[in-house]
Formats: sequence, structure tokens, C-alpha cells
Amino acid sequence: MTGTPPGHILIFPVPLQGHVNSMLNLAEVLCLSGLHVTILLSDYTHNRLLRHASLHSRFSRYAGFRVATISDGLPADHPRSGQRILDIVLSLKKVGGPQFRHLMESTDALSYGGAWRRVSCLIMDRVLSFAIPVVEEMGIPFIYFRTVSACSFWAYFCIQEMIVAGEIPLKGKDEDKLEYWKKEEMDLMVTSVPGMENILRRRDIPALCRVEDIDDPGLQSVKTETRRSTNATALILNTFEDLEGPVLDQIRKHIPNLYSIGPLHSHLKALLESKGMESSHYSSSFWKEDDSCIAWLDSQPANSVVYVSFGSVTMLTRDELLEFWYGLVNSGKRFLWVIRPDSITGNNDGNGNEMPVELEEGTKSRGLMVEWVPQQVVLGHPSVGAFFTHSGWNSTLESIAIGLPMLCWPYLADQTTNSRFVSEVWKIGLDMKDTCDRILIEKMVRDVMEVRRDEFLVRAHSLATLAKEAITEGGSSHSNLNRLIEFLKSTVS
Ligand code: UDX
Repeated sequence: MTGTPPGHILIFPVPLQGHVNSMLNLAEVLCLSGLHVTILLSDYTHNRLLRHASLHSRFSRYAGFRVATISDGLPADHPRSGQRILDIVLSLKKVGGPQFRHLMESTDALSYGGAWRRVSCLIMDRVLSFAIPVVEEMGIPFIYFRTVSACSFWAYFCIQEMIVAGEIPLKGKDEDKLEYWKKEEMDLMVTSVPGMENILRRRDIPALCRVEDIDDPGLQSVKTETRRSTNATALILNTFEDLEGPVLDQIRKHIPNLYSIGPLHSHLKALLESKGMESSHYSSSFWKEDDSCIAWLDSQPANSVVYVSFGSVTMLTRDELLEFWYGLVNSGKRFLWVIRPDSITGNNDGNGNEMPVELEEGTKSRGLMVEWVPQQVVLGHPSVGAFFTHSGWNSTLESIAIGLPMLCWPYLADQTTNSRFVSEVWKIGLDMKDTCDRILIEKMVRDVMEVRRDEFLVRAHSLATLAKEAITEGGSSHSNLNRLIEFLKSTVS
């Protein structure tokens, strides 16, 4: 190689599917620009990617791409779904610091073509703050890439304001109901988050903030960590100005160096296509993708199928599973439903695993259940008419980029805020948070697929057009990404 070598960017995601997907997309975009990129994964996550995904075939074409690993400190058989995902973060916080320091000082793990490359910039997730003292000591700039929506980031940023206004912690627990908190309490508007005064009810604030104890460790941790975002050189968000402009303006008052570069998956696809490179499959799935669903979709009428997926960490009780299943079957609509092998908890109705015969029959005639799918291919399939989703940010953006109406059942973290924006701000679907009832599900599936379909489609198509414009030359995300790349290139000393 001649001349100055390119910058060397270390990317460090929280080792969960949604976060890894976004960060790998960014890694590939940076590789395409000629930067050297090392992605830091947990051993556990790396092994899963090796087992089920085409990580290596996807990245083997980039000479400047490397993977480094550290241990997340948990045994291999530790559950890493549902509320237990917090264990991963807490454990990493305990064991990550020394490992990260060792990596940064290691001449072997960070070498390219036999020569050690000093990291010129760290791009990382907020919660991995143990890495900060190490890079600060070494004089390396760091950038936060929060893989959530701007609206949920901003709500996290305003936790202190919500506490002062008495909006957090929540009061009025109702142990007898599924809703857990009393409806009157949850339906109160939140007035202390600037720019969202007429949008958020208490039930819509990020699920981590829906607590009754002000000392809740999750609440305190997210409060401190989000405020610390102001210490970073910059903040990257996977969103676009025409989607979340007013919220981005609020964030910029505190973090002026903000790069909104989404939807990143579409951005990457467009970049690959512009270079004449294969873009049809850039999976980084932790589970094996079942492609047989595509042949099934091929045999269904246009816009007739509800695609149902609750993402990579949601857990359902058996009771919830039955409510969803009855709701879907009774709606009379066709459905493709992703049920991860590890996603059902308990088995408490005393009937073993046998399912009611009407559900089996309804599924045989109109449905298909699989463990994991190539989601972006499914969302873009002409037979799919709506997305029944947990409102994870990647899923929400993938649906917006395609122009598909959504029915939302948020489960944790930022999802409760995302689903509110889907229904009340963007008006591209319905939000059924805090309920799980077969009659309501049946009605809402029909509403999204039929009764209110046209109204949602008009809005969804116009947002999809705006998303496309954002990543096209001259668009906001396109120019923000170019600015980011220029900055990263300038970090090499
Ligand atoms: C987690 C959090 O739950 C979410 O709130 C946060 O915004 C990101 O991290 P996760 O459950 O992983 O999200 O959901 P999401 O962000 O939607 O990411 C799931 C990813 O898995 C998507 O990119 C989706 O395309 C992919 N996926 C999902 C598949 O490839 N196949 C499937 O069958 C299901």
C-alpha cells in the first residue's frame, strides 16, 4: 500500500440482533468508502453469526474488515432473550473494561496485513461506557451510534425532566389486570418532553422508564448514559430528517454534531447497487433463515398476508400466544408468523403442548409458522399487506422504507415510543400496546388489512418516498453520511 493508510474505525455494538444488524450495516458502508473497520463482538454472538449467517461471505470482499471478540462473561447456556437481555449489558459492564483495554493494546487483534493499525475512532453503543476511559487515555475520539429511534432517544434524554414533573416513577399499580398500571395513570399526557407535549402518554414513554421505583437500576443507568452522549465527538442515529426532523432539532440543541443517516439498510443497498455489487443478501441473522416461506408467499394473492414477527428478544407466555393465534385465525386473513424457538415461556394451562384443533386447522388453510425469515425479503414481497410487529427500531424502519402499514405490539425498551409515533405521528398503523386480547387483535388485523388500509397506505407510501429521497444524492441522510465519512477519514493521524 502506498500513501497514508486509511482511518481505522472500531465499531462496538451491544451484542443483540437489532444492534448488531445496524452496526454491521454501518461497518459495510464504511468499508465501501475505503476505511479499515474492526467490529468488536461477544464470543457468543460471533459464534452465532458463524453458525447461521453469511457474515464471512458478506465481508470477505473487503480487505479492510476484521472481527475482534471479547467474552460477555455469561455461561454459553445463559438465556439471552426477554428481560434477561439486561444480564448481557450488566455482565459486560463488569468484565468488559479489562478485556477492552487488552484489545486496544494488542498488536495482534488490531493488525491489518501483518501490521498493527492504531484505532483512529471508536463508534459504539451508549451502554458500553467502560470503553470510554480507555480511548480517552489513548487520545482516540469516540462517537455514539444509538441504534434506536430519535423519538425514544429524546425521551431517554429527558428522564430527569419527567422525574421533576412527577411523571416518572409511575404510580397506581393494578395487580389484577394485564395492564398492570391503572388505565387512568397510563393515559395521562407527558408534558415535560419538549416537542412531544401532545404526543406521549405515560404508557408511551420507553418501557425502561415505566417503573414505580425511582432507584430502578435500568432507569438510573439509561438516564445517566443518555446524558453522557453529550461527551462524545458526535452522535449517529439511524433515522432521517423527514421522519423525525422536529425531534432531531431538539436533540441538536444539546448535541449539535448529529448525523442522521438512515434508513441505513436502504442506504447500504443503494451504495452497493451504485457500485454494481451484489446487494440482494446481506444477512447477519443469529438464527437460520427459513427460505421456504418465500415459495409459500409466492403462492398467495397480492397484499393478502399479514407478516407477524416480534423480533429477536420478545418472549410470549402461552396465554399470549393463544390470544395472538386466535386473533389471527379469527380475522380470516392469511398470515406468516415468525416464532423463534426460544420465544415461548411457561406451559401453564395443564394441557401440555396440544393446541386447539380450530387453530391447527385455521393455520393449515391460511397460515405458515416458521422460526426465522429473511425479513427484508419478506417485507418487500408483493403478497405481504401489513406488518404485525413489536416495533423494534430496525423492523419499524424496514417497514417504513417499504411503505407497509403496521400493527404494533411493543414489548420493551424503545418499542413503546416507536409504536406511538407509528399510530399518532406518522399515522401508518395502529398501536395495541398493553393489551393482548383475541377479539381486539382480530378487529385490528382487519382494520389494518382492510377497513383503514387505504388511509394507512397513502401515508406509508409518502414516507417510503421520503426515505428514498433521503438516501439519494442531495438527500439529508446521503449528505450526512458523506460528512461522517469525511470526518472519520480525517481522524487518521
Ligand atoms: C432490539 C430492541 O428490542 C429494539 O427495541 C431496539 O430498537 C433494537 O434492539 P430486536 O428485537 O432485535 O430489537 O428488533 P429490531 O430492532 O426490529 O431488529 C430485528 C432485526 O432482525 C431486524 O433487522 C429484522 O430484519 C431481523 N429479523 C427479524 C430477521 O432477519 N428475520 C426475522 O425472522 C425477524
